[in-house]
Amino acid sequence: MKGIILAGGVGSRLHPITQGVSKQLLPIYDKPMIYYPLSVLMLADIREILIITTPEDQQAFIRLLGDGSQWGIKLSYIVQLKPEGIAHALILGKIFVGRDDVCLVLGDNVFYGTGLIPLLKNAVFEVTENRKACIFGYYVNDPERYGVAQFNQEGDVISIEEKPQNPKSKYAVVGLYFYPNDAVQKVGNITSSVRGELEITSLNQLYLDEKRLILQKMGRGFAWLDTGTHESLMEAGSFIQTIEKRQGLKVACLEEIAFKKHWISVTKLDEAIQHYGNNVYGDYLKQLENDISYKYVL
Ligand code: DAU
Repeated sequence: MKGIILAGGVGSRLHPITQGVSKQLLPIYDKPMIYYPLSVLMLADIREILIITTPEDQQAFIRLLGDGSQWGIKLSYIVQLKPEGIAHALILGKIFVGRDDVCLVLGDNVFYGTGLIPLLKNAVFEVTENRKACIFGYYVNDPERYGVAQFNQEGDVISIEEKPQNPKSKYAVVGLYFYPNDAVQKVGNITSSVRGELEITSLNQLYLDEKRLILQKMGRGFAWLDTGTHESLMEAGSFIQTIEKRQGLKVACLEEIAFKKHWISVTKLDEAIQHYGNNVYGDYLKQLENDISYKYVL
């Protein structure tokens, strides 16, 4: 399975901050925002990843992330000339995806929770073994801001509406989508919405119509953090700070994930330690190399 991170857009809600820098490069406490969705793809064992950015910001992403070899992954880049919708990512990514299945994640979505890895593994299984699309629902206070799922008595999803005025449930569809390969064909059949975008909700609806859509709920033990407003950006940073301070473990440390998955050697980890020197991030990596006791706990 391949991965796509959609990290373009104008970030107008966060102007003037995002007039000078891409939203997905802003810090969430001690890491750039894009580290968090990238870590999710890595935790799902996805190692070939396409990063979609605006033309102006592409160089900054390349400077930050490079070719991915420092984490044992392969990164490539493509630009989106203007924000044509989330589903547009699959049109831009068609050649990259080729004959593979694909996971699309929004570059501004942050996830945290103990059951995350099994949830991701299950999504990969639904796609690869059952040829179904798999999306996730998260109970929120303000569903009207998102794609919203409706359920029947049995708990099966029966409709998804994009930013409905009268939401039919409190379950928002998060920005993490697993698709079988035919998504890249299907996306050619959807048309732009009234806001002029190729909506990911329209693609999900196509799978729903074919009874090939699974929605897994992310329960109370999960955090799906919003980064769309100044307040929520600060809160996301505070949340990560609180967790990391309490445990002394970092969320979305890409070297840690790669090392524990044996995608990088001790030599590569040493290179990262040298690179960061004696800063907090470098110290953490040093501790990781030395602390056998939690070496294989992800
Ligand atoms: O965050 C989850 C929600 O994301 C879903 O519940 C909705 O169904 C989905 O439509 C989307 O909602 P938003 O309308 O809030 O997405 P937004 O326009 O804020 O875009 C999400 C991210 O994707 C943002 O960082 C910018 C980037 N993006 C967006 C579009 C439309 C692009 O890079 N290119 C685009 O064309």
